Amino acid sequence: MLQAPRIQPLSEVDVAEMPRLSMGDKELNRVLGGGAVPGGVVLLGGEPGIGKSTLMLQVALQVAATGAKVLYVSGEESAEQVRMRANRLGEIAPSALIFPQTQVPAVLDALREERPSLVVVDSVQTLDLPDQDGVPGSVGQIRESAAALTAFAKTTGTPLFMVGHITKEGSLAGPKVLEHMVDVVLQFEGDRHHAYRMLRAAKNRFGTTAELGIYEMTGEGLSAVDHPSEVLLGERGSAESGSAVAVSIQGARPLLVEIQALVSTAVYGTPQRSGTGFDLRRLNMLLAVLEKRCGFKLGVLDVFLNLAGGLKIQDPANDLAVVAAILSSSLDLPLDNRTCFAGEVGLSGEIRPVPRLEQRMAEAARLGMERMLISGHGSHPTPPKGLTVVPVKRVNEVQRVVF
Ligand code: TYD
Ligand code: MG
Repeated sequence: MLQAPRIQPLSEVDVAEMPRLSMGDKELNRVLGGGAVPGGVVLLGGEPGIGKSTLMLQVALQVAATGAKVLYVSGEESAEQVRMRANRLGEIAPSALIFPQTQVPAVLDALREERPSLVVVDSVQTLDLPDQDGVPGSVGQIRESAAALTAFAKTTGTPLFMVGHITKEGSLAGPKVLEHMVDVVLQFEGDRHHAYRMLRAAKNRFGTTAELGIYEMTGEGLSAVDHPSEVLLGERGSAESGSAVAVSIQGARPLLVEIQALVSTAVYGTPQRSGTGFDLRRLNMLLAVLEKRCGFKLGVLDVFLNLAGGLKIQDPANDLAVVAAILSSSLDLPLDNRTCFAGEVGLSGEIRPVPRLEQRMAEAARLGMERMLISGHGSHPTPPKGLTVVPVKRVNEVQRVVF
């Protein structure tokens, strides 16, 4: 597969589409950019217990079900434990191979002998390379073990997935050192108290990093969530103050998310600010804008912000809904629950237009929204039937329009 490197005119480099191996999972396929690439090395990071092993085993079984040979190297769980998990996940084809092993040379021997179509190593922290100093899980061990496996993947064109545990603070530095060595870095996120999980690419040499996969953890493993907006709004009850709906875009998909704010008198001296699923610096910026441009004295109040479903969804277009949710909570006035928002808020309090309004409008209308607040700067596409668009130019207009 590997040819000796040579100098050639760039214009003559052959860019025939690389054949991709389908993961049998449309969320993962999409996040990868259309399946696994031959020799592509993927690092799957996430907190312990979030579902990395479940996802990888599920994928291994799905790929094996097509007849392809898959080798699952388990350094954390015994073959019996993996088998028990597999029983919950579906069909176990004979080409799904399990190798409970942590010694890198033994893993490499097995790979050379079996020549699987897909390799999963769970996890990099358990790998042990005898020639290398340090205990398994130390930075040197992780780096050198991963390098040895990566060399195998590249020379044979075998797609390789490596699982790495990362704590919330990113304090398990180990897997971080791999980020520049691998082709794709996937992050598996979510709140363990919620069933929803998000898969996104932090780095992708073979596709975009904008795509998002959404799963639900069920008793039979992870299942793809086809209509995330329904799910994310489904948990919403009757209109209550502090709740607003943002029309986000994640990758190719529009997504309606409920944003909840709680504004209350600070119990302790310093007001608290916290944002679950929302960037805290952005929240502070929006609060400063509200204070300066709308005269809301938020500086002395606690402000809590929460994205429903425990998901982290970043899109500047969420700003307007965040502002609306904060206003709604501090005035204790509920917003109409058929009103949604899509606009970015600038430092001077201006509402800026956001891209792909047409797609956002279509999704809002599909979910029964009747009113959508957007930026009043520039033109906007004609909304679909049933949806009225309300353009606003500045944050201080929002209050007047929605209450
Ligand atoms: P796991 O994949 O072991 O997490 P990680 O490898 O990231 O540490 O799974 C985490 C949780 O998922 C575990 O507490 C049990 C739960 N789970 C389900 O709810 N349903 C299932 O079908 C499986 C296999 C696991
Ligand atoms: Mg695991």
